[in-house]
Amino acid sequence: MKTLLAFLLTLLLLGCAPAEQPRLPALGRAEISGARLWQRISAEADFEHWAFWPGHEELQPGQSPHGQFHEVYINYLLEEALPAAGRRAPNGSLIVKENFDADRRPTNLTVMAKVEGYDPANGDWFWAAYDPQGKVQAEGRLQSCIDCHEGMKDNDYIIIRRLDLSLPEQ
Ligand code: HEC
Repeated sequence: MKTLLAFLLTLLLLGCAPAEQPRLPALGRAEISGARLWQRISAEADFEHWAFWPGHEELQPGQSPHGQFHEVYINYLLEEALPAAGRRAPNGSLIVKENFDADRRPTNLTVMAKVEGYDPANGDWFWAAYDPQGKVQAEGRLQSCIDCHEGMKDNDYIIIRRLDLSLPEQ
């Protein structure tokens, strides 16, 4: 009886604990594609369980062209590398930006994935855009994304926050 009780209690505690993000290895250059990346950020390691980009928790006002509001999530590989003194995101970093219109309805998702050797001239980022159901709208070495983000080349093409800043106290 006692064992059963302990077992049930453990189940209950596990059920209440926040879902842990699976610690999956970085996606490689040979396998990366818009569809493969979507599989990673939905089925394999649902981004909704990742950390928010510090300072971008919940719906935050965003800038053109991304949408009126956004939520920005980072995977564990990037989260654990912060603050990054050299302002380089490690291989396997994933950043998911969920965009919303003025009425806070989801419009699309824009994603950056750091893939070693994929595009050395532009920081090795794989860029992708999806509709809210995960249909690929654009993917790859997207020049339009690079053109705008390269203004922050010295922060590894990341605009929203300096990589060498310490994480805010939780
Ligand atoms: C005209 C400029 C512009 C273009 C084009 C653009 N972005 Fe952005 N992006 C921004 C700005 C500005 C931010 C900072 C967040 C905000 O204010 O919305 C941002 C933020 C992001 C972020 C969060 C991480 C970061 O860098 O801050 C991701 C991921 C992202 N963009 C992906 C993309 C993808 C994928 C494309 C191409 C399909 C793209 N962006 C095209 C301006 C742009």
